Amino acid sequence: MDSKVQELLDQQVNKEFYSAYLYLDFSVYFYDNGLNGFGNWFKIQAQEEQAHAMLFLQYLQNNGVKPQLCAIDKPAVALTDVKTVLEETLKHEKYVTSLINDIYEAAHAAKDYRTMQFLDWFVKEQGEEEMNAGDLIKRYELFGSDAKGLYMLDNELGARTYSAPSLQL
Ligand code: FEO
Repeated sequence: MDSKVQELLDQQVNKEFYSAYLYLDFSVYFYDNGLNGFGNWFKIQAQEEQAHAMLFLQYLQNNGVKPQLCAIDKPAVALTDVKTVLEETLKHEKYVTSLINDIYEAAHAAKDYRTMQFLDWFVKEQGEEEMNAGDLIKRYELFGSDAKGLYMLDNELGARTYSAPSLQL
């Protein structure tokens, strides 16, 4: 495997675990503020990120590369209010999209078509992640300022359940 592609894939394992840790921090914030449905939504989001990390790790191993596990940063987002947390989620997903694009670009430059094909799933997934984060902001803007509306939105988010990624390696 091209050394640059390998390095970026390795880093992505860490970035996905950081995403899981970040969303777990958001989840804790919501539970602490009585919004258990939002807390549930972010806890499941954290599980998804962990699954993403494992896919990158497995992909490296499948290609005979030993993953390098580095320290995961402390979540570094100030949790001031609900809207800010939701906006930070969208901002973070856009950042992750840029990381995936960077790996894609490196794989393309190295003519590493196998990695490009592996990344295709993540390109699509990032589109969904950004859409979900954007939808959450819109719905909070619409219903969040009304106590009943917020209660119903929280209930809806509480119904989210985890399903494993459709990508199998
Ligand atoms: Fe693993 Fe939310 O991107």
